[in-house]
Amino acid sequence: MISAAGLGKRFGDGWVFRGVTFQLPERGLVVVLGPNGSGKTTLLKILATLLEPTEGEVKILGLSWGEARMRLRREVLYAHQEPVVLSGTVEDNLFCRDYDVEDALGLRPVLRKKAKSLSGGYRKLVTLARVLACRPKVALLDEPTAFLDPEKRQIAAAYIAEYSRKNLVVWTSHYPSELPPAERLYELRDGALKELSNIR
Ligand SMILES: Nc1ncnc2c1ncn2[C@@H]1O[C@H](COP(=O)(O)OP(=O)(O)O)[C@@H](O)[C@H]1O
Ligand SMILES: [Mg+2]
Repeated sequence: MISAAGLGKRFGDGWVFRGVTFQLPERGLVVVLGPNGSGKTTLLKILATLLEPTEGEVKILGLSWGEARMRLRREVLYAHQEPVVLSGTVEDNLFCRDYDVEDALGLRPVLRKKAKSLSGGYRKLVTLARVLACRPKVALLDEPTAFLDPEKRQIAAAYIAEYSRKNLVVWTSHYPSELPPAERLYELRDGALKELSNIR
């Protein structure tokens, strides 16, 4: 489904990470834990073909990084860490519509509101719904519960867990204490990715 071998990314003179190797399952919840600046966003953006790797290989749904960038449109989607909304209403912001997602995330009452007038938490939910409503086979969710209050956090986590029963979800976090039950757990730290699943 998604795999990487010897993956590395450098900005200017500094390597963010090197030698990153993994093989992700076809479906399930994979968590990538790591402190600020360890490269979680960079890694997700590479898998979403928004950033090009400096070295190593990635296979995304059977395609190389270059082929995936050309050919994959809605199969692999990235949801930004920061709440990102465009002008217009919440509805205008949802390129794919899915009643279940809108309902589960509590967005139905705000569909007609101006997206930019919403609180950070709601804007984050719109950012998540924009991706999940398109039902990607691979949802790359960058700190999906950041900006959410405890209640919304729980709602979003439950929906994402349900979504990961049929699809692959990669979830990044810098909060070891707030991890969802994951199929697999990795830690990105000091430029390397380690699998921690066996420790839990
Ligand atoms: N476009 C960029 N240009 C230069 N450096 C970058 C760029 N994007 C990220 N970085 C650097 O790469 C490192 C990893 O960043 P990031 O992937 O955002 O980490 P995380 O998501 O784990 O907080 C940081 O040191 C950051 O400053
Ligand atoms: Mg980040």
